[in-house]
This record gives sequence, structure tokens and C-alpha cells, in this order.
Amino acid sequence: MYKILLALLAMAGIPVAACAQSTPEMNGQSKNDKILVSFFSATGTTARVAEKLAEATGGTLYAITPARPYTAADLDWHDRRSRSSVEMDDPQSRPEIGGKEVNTAGYDIIFIGYPIWWDLAPRIIETFIEQHDLRGKRVIPFATSGGSRLANSAAALKRAYPELHWLEGRLLNRADDREIRDWFEKLGVGRSE
Ligand SMILES: Cc1cc2nc3c(=O)[nH]c(=O)nc-3n(C[C@H](O)[C@H](O)[C@H](O)COP(=O)(O)O)c2cc1C
Repeated sequence: MYKILLALLAMAGIPVAACAQSTPEMNGQSKNDKILVSFFSATGTTARVAEKLAEATGGTLYAITPARPYTAADLDWHDRRSRSSVEMDDPQSRPEIGGKEVNTAGYDIIFIGYPIWWDLAPRIIETFIEQHDLRGKRVIPFATSGGSRLANSAAALKRAYPELHWLEGRLLNRADDREIRDWFEKLGVGRSE
């Protein structure tokens, strides 16, 4: 159907390129782009999605690991005094990252994945962003959630770090191959074969 429409537009003399979907070139991607799939995951769901993304993009996987792991009690959102509640109540909170460091300087495209907490990205994502100079790179958020959409958390990150070049993120609760492919086509990232 799409091809027929393009053919009709071409016959009518309407420039088809203007109607075509964005291509990797339009998004500035080259085959040599190096991709980092960074993520934080407290209970494993986002980690599984990140692995899929790394596989699909040929990117390097990097787990943002808290210096102090989150216990089940830390993650109890019913408890207003739990560690996660206290951190999310405090916009200045920056939980420390432990474990292996990553040198983001060598990467062109940085995926940042997280579980949605209170409709936001966990504060440790801000720790990660502030510890790396991501200016000039394409930064792409993705998340998993119990049902909340990505929009609010992605908008908050954009507001907090307007100097970064944010591309359209995606909630990947199902993360089937087709959804990932569709998203990548829009973004112009991933393997073409
Ligand atoms: C402290 C906390 C707050 C959460 N807040 C939300 C929320 O606002 N909306 C939502 O849909 N899910 C929320 N969830 C559910 C997680 O986003 C969801 O289970 C996610 O897939 C967990 O990913 P992970 O296994 O990678 O940590 C919350 C979970 C926790 C622990």
C-alpha cells in the first residue's frame, strides 16, 4: 500500500523523498557508529530487555550497578520511608554507582534503560548522566514499568539535561522483536541485515 502511494505521488510529480520515512542517514547514523546499551535494573526486567537491545544493535551492554544494592525493603513503594521512596522524593538524590566503570567517550549512541519508579527514572540514572559527558551523542531512553508510560520520565530527563541530543525513547514492556525493529527503523539505528 505504501509503495503504491509513493508511486502515485511520484507520478503526480510530488517529491517522494519528502514523504519517505526517516533513514539512518537522516538521523546521522553511519555504519561505524558505536552503540552503548546502558541500563539500571533492580529486579531483572529491564536487564532482560537491555540484553535484547544490545543483541539487536550489536551494541555493548553496560549495567549501571548501585554501590549499595537495593533490597526488597528498599524497593517497597508502600513504605514512604523506604530507600526508593526517600530517593524519589528528593530531586537532589544521586545514589552512588559501584562496580565496573564505562568510558562513554568511545560511543556515538547511548541507550539508557531503567524501571519506571514513581513515573520517573530512578535517581541513579541522573548519577550516570552527570558522571559522563554525553554531549554530542545521541541519547535514547527506554524503560519497563508496571503499566506507566515512558513519556513523563523521558520528558523529565529532557528537561533536566536539555543540552543532550535526545532521540525518541520507548517503553519496552513486551519488547518483542517486531516492536524493537519498528522503533529502530524510526530511529535509524540497529543492524540493517
Ligand atoms: C520503587 C518502585 C516504584 C515504581 N513505580 C512505578 C510506577 O510509577 N509506574 C509503574 O508502572 N511501575 C512502577 N514500578 C514497577 C517497575 O517499574 C516495574 O516492575 C519494572 O519493570 C521493574 O524493572 P526492573 O526489574 O528492571 O527493576 C515501580 C517499582 C518500584 C520498585
